[in-house]
Amino acid sequence: MMRTHLCGELDPSHVGQQVAVTGWVNRRREHSQHLAFVDLRDHSGIVQCVVDNSVDVRSEYVVRITGTVTERPDGTVNDNLATGRIEITDVAVEVLSVSEPPPFPLDERADEVDEMVRLRHRYLDLRRERMQRNLRIRSQVNAAVRTAMLAQDFVEVETPMLMPPTPEGAREFIVPSRQRPGSFYALPQSPQLYKQLLMVGGLDRYFQIARCMRDEDLRADRQYEFMQLDLEMSFVTVDDVLDAVEVSVLDAAEAVTGVRPTDVPRITWHDAMNRFGTDKPDLRFAMELVELTDAFAQTGFKAFATAGSIKGINAKGAAPDWGRNKLDGLTDDAKSFGAKGMVWMKVTAGDAGALTFESPVAKFLSDDEQKALIDRLDAEVDDLLLLIADEWHTTCEVLGELRNRLGRPPVSEGPYEYLWVVDFPLFVGMDDATGNPKPGHHAFCHPHPEDLDKLESDPMAVRAWAYDLVLNGWELGSGSIRIHDPALQQRVFDLMGIEADEAEQRFGFFLNPFKYGAPPHGGFAYGLDRLTAILAGEDNIREIIAFPKPQSGVDPMTGAPTEIAETTLAELGVRVLPPPVD
Ligand code: AMO
Repeated sequence: MMRTHLCGELDPSHVGQQVAVTGWVNRRREHSQHLAFVDLRDHSGIVQCVVDNSVDVRSEYVVRITGTVTERPDGTVNDNLATGRIEITDVAVEVLSVSEPPPFPLDERADEVDEMVRLRHRYLDLRRERMQRNLRIRSQVNAAVRTAMLAQDFVEVETPMLMPPTPEGAREFIVPSRQRPGSFYALPQSPQLYKQLLMVGGLDRYFQIARCMRDEDLRADRQYEFMQLDLEMSFVTVDDVLDAVEVSVLDAAEAVTGVRPTDVPRITWHDAMNRFGTDKPDLRFAMELVELTDAFAQTGFKAFATAGSIKGINAKGAAPDWGRNKLDGLTDDAKSFGAKGMVWMKVTAGDAGALTFESPVAKFLSDDEQKALIDRLDAEVDDLLLLIADEWHTTCEVLGELRNRLGRPPVSEGPYEYLWVVDFPLFVGMDDATGNPKPGHHAFCHPHPEDLDKLESDPMAVRAWAYDLVLNGWELGSGSIRIHDPALQQRVFDLMGIEADEAEQRFGFFLNPFKYGAPPHGGFAYGLDRLTAILAGEDNIREIIAFPKPQSGVDPMTGAPTEIAETTLAELGVRVLPPPVD
């Protein structure tokens, strides 16, 4: 090695030793007429070197410095730096590479720099302590989950990147075939179909740290390409899958944070919606939805009289922060989430210690109704109550959004609250085009056996053996027990309006193998980017990906996507149309 030590590992125990360190010049400061301080940085940290003023080194020069570790003189100790009690003196400096002045400072000030600048020069951004730390956490997570899966007897198998289009929800990235012009591969949205075929193939327990690609709008928790810990198991129940996943997730959490989360509670989808208004509840704060429908059974207030479901939340102590304008804005938000309106009530002190309401609708509510609100929502002075009246699903969903709006901390803020949500509905809503039920997860989820008799008569009430893992309000992963019986699969397709010959044509390659003895099986996949981001204390998965895409999808560093030469297009049999006119 060109070095004897890493910059960040030197401490008073090395005093007197001759050392060689390598790295980048983080900063150079003049010390006196003859001497300068050079802070040398490598991935492990920073060490101060005292160099001759004549040495020409500047920010981001790559150097090798040899010298003696010396205790810093009294008064110059820097307790903010791990190496702050020592410095390297009597040095020889060898310049290995020069650098132009970097386009932005590579310390914590870079956090304030426009993200596009950071991404355009990602190779510089990666030198920063924050990025170094995040990528190491990512590597730790990958190592921990791989070890956990292998220890549970899972077999790591790679599945193809070039595959036929699949029925998995998101839009796919398409790759033209040169040898068959006019034909296309799709890049995998996930290894779903292959992993199920691996079960038919007798693998028993499969996992993969799988790259997946989806052409969907990018946001804090979404990239075009992302990594899943993907797994599938044969001859298992829901609990078996949940237990296997839990081991790997908790092992990763422990590897990064040093603390093993103790308990991952399980809640049904129905209870999650009813209590938190979402299928990914953030359990770091309470503000649960409170049932009020029966309290307004006899109400004279029109907006409440006809509603199927009335619920409320209490934002404790929030009333003084919410003036009329802000509440009007919140009402507009509630409408944009699907509500017809929103009732707000500020709790104020009335006569003789009684509680009263400041609200445009208070006058329409009877004394009994007002008392029920105070009791059930546990109201105190300065609380802000928000009520929604609609059909059950809308009431829950809108209040879930409002609850998050009023109470949710940034996703990375501790503590870590994991949650299993189980028994998702098999279908959610109707397909706009066909009017048929749409699968909640995908078309291959096993209906809950207790609900099989309702499949045709009341499909929307059928639960699936489908489950999600949630962390701090982010969906970490999803999975299900799959249908392994071709006859049951066709019943589900029939409900979706997919007839046998269409199923054969669209998914024949996947369905036909099930005629040859498919074991009962189920699985799961969770987003490694999402898990890593939260464990690293980041609110955006871009911060834990070496080369992510910004929201526009255009990589400012490489310029991708780019146009390609006419000759290449011709070889692929592809002609580019002018962009559609709006
Ligand atoms: P699902 O589509 O729910 O399930 O994806 C599983 C998990 O993958 C992560 N994820 C993403 N992460 C970053 N960017 C994205 N664009 C993105 N999309 C998804 C999320 C998500 O929870 N085949 C099924 C799993 C199964 O049934 O076994 C699947 O892919 O963390």
